[in-house]
Amino acid sequence: MKKSGLGKKLAFYDNKPKNDEFLNAIENGLEKTQKEIPCKFLYDERGSKLFDKICTLDEYYPTRTELHIMHSNIDDIAHRLGDHVLLIEYGSGSSLKTRVLLDRLQNLSGYIPIDISGEHLLHTASEIKKQYPDLPVHPVCADYTGKYNLPEIVPPDARRVVYFPGSTIGNFHPEDAAEFLRTISTVIHNNGFLLIGVDLKKDPVILHRAYNDRQGVTALFNLNSLVRANRELGANFRTDLFKHYAFFNPTLGRVEMHLISLEDQKVHINGTTFAIAQGESIHTECSYKYSVNEFAELAKNAGLEVDRVWMDEDKMFSVQLLRAGL
Ligand code: AVI
Repeated sequence: MKKSGLGKKLAFYDNKPKNDEFLNAIENGLEKTQKEIPCKFLYDERGSKLFDKICTLDEYYPTRTELHIMHSNIDDIAHRLGDHVLLIEYGSGSSLKTRVLLDRLQNLSGYIPIDISGEHLLHTASEIKKQYPDLPVHPVCADYTGKYNLPEIVPPDARRVVYFPGSTIGNFHPEDAAEFLRTISTVIHNNGFLLIGVDLKKDPVILHRAYNDRQGVTALFNLNSLVRANRELGANFRTDLFKHYAFFNPTLGRVEMHLISLEDQKVHINGTTFAIAQGESIHTECSYKYSVNEFAELAKNAGLEVDRVWMDEDKMFSVQLLRAGL
């Protein structure tokens, strides 16, 4: 893992995936009958900023609801996590909810934010370091769904708590979610925890609004994977010829985000031409919604046990504490 210094106080561990990964994913994805671009490629610097903006929208209930749950239950959460916690956050973004934990947890052993978007990660990690000068902060730029190494300076006896807020687990297909949770169970060992945000099943009209906001920020976020392919891979997508389309699929229990082609068109990427018909879609994201029981079942299949579930009054969202199963 490449370590680059950022002054004396913040070391940055760079595991950023190479560009080839995006090129391969987009080329393979556009060959499929249902064209697709994996959702992790939505998050370059601009995509991460657009996502931050989504989190502030009226229609997008998950962020404020999760924050409310964290604030309302922080004493109980802190009590259950205990002291000398090494907090490892997956997909840390702006670390908004993390600050609730950092403010309250006693004698933290360290904080390791892991994010794929390097610039965004560095900015947030520097802010955290300014706000909590005594806290050892070790940002790791990596795709946390793949292989990455934790910095060696991590104290081996610290209780590891993986924090995975935002219901990003919903962006994994259930089989991949189970696999991912299984990996987390090996990271937290027997005495650690996973603290995770899980979005719940609800009225589809609320979901529809959340993924089709009036200001069109989600549409820009969705289109950003094309903007990014143009910039990074020299592709020639015309974003004005694609329309954001998001809906709840009740059979599969997920919100699907697509980009619908408004014309028959041809796109060139790295010497290959892809024909996209009028009305054809590129599937860009799934966001699965779970019932509390469905998620407990998923966790059980991954060797994790649900210890505690906190919810808001309307049962829109949950924050769940899991430990390695016996
Ligand atoms: C990051 N993730 C949990 C968001 C979600 O709700 O699935 C991404 C998002 N997509 C559209 N709006 C927000």
